[in-house]
Amino acid sequence: MDTANIAEIKKYKEIIPLTGVTTNPSILKKEGRTAFFDHLLKIKNILGTKCSLHVQVVATTTEGIVQDVHKILDVFGKETYVKIPINEAGLAAIKILKGENVKITATSIYTAIQGYLAIAAGADYLAPYYNRMMNNNIDANKIIAAFNKVIVRENKPTKILAASFHTVGQIVEAIDSGSQAITVNPSLIKEGLESHIINDAIADFTHDWESVYGQTTISTLTSE
Ligand code: E4P
Repeated sequence: MDTANIAEIKKYKEIIPLTGVTTNPSILKKEGRTAFFDHLLKIKNILGTKCSLHVQVVATTTEGIVQDVHKILDVFGKETYVKIPINEAGLAAIKILKGENVKITATSIYTAIQGYLAIAAGADYLAPYYNRMMNNNIDANKIIAAFNKVIVRENKPTKILAASFHTVGQIVEAIDSGSQAITVNPSLIKEGLESHIINDAIADFTHDWESVYGQTTISTLTSE
């Protein structure tokens, strides 16, 4: 899930096969001026040990990024994925951090070359920005498929974690193009599961059942 909203994370952890939460400064901003470490520790506690927390660095120099990462790992634990934007400073930081076995989510990916370099640098996840790519006339589906091809051909451990979705259709396209994981805002999960055609189908079944058996349910029906 691509959110820092505690209530939504608690809710959807019980509904979807959640494997982790991704954040960035813009996602955190939506929650107001929270206490950064406390807020993310709350999320980590909700997630437990089976889901991963992805925390983005904010420094923009290689040295600063490495320092941010060390602080993030000190507070949230070595199992945390650190999100590092892929530019020269970010790639140089990944080179240093991979020597320390840090788990990396390469982020802010718009172009094929950013992704190929992140795969080569040993990123654990690649986060191509689906909607932003499409808005910039960059074919996200083609690039996700190309990343997948290289990952398989070179037998790399990197997984594609497509991000930046603004429609349910975009999520489906990204998975179809080869994205092994996706990170989405809870509003899109709701939209994908609560559309009127789904609700109408379920209401029809309820109506037909009740027209024959009344208010009883299967669990309270006496055997005949
Ligand atoms: C997640 O890792 C990304 O930072 C996020 O999905 C970007 O989404 P946006 O394009 O809606 O800001």
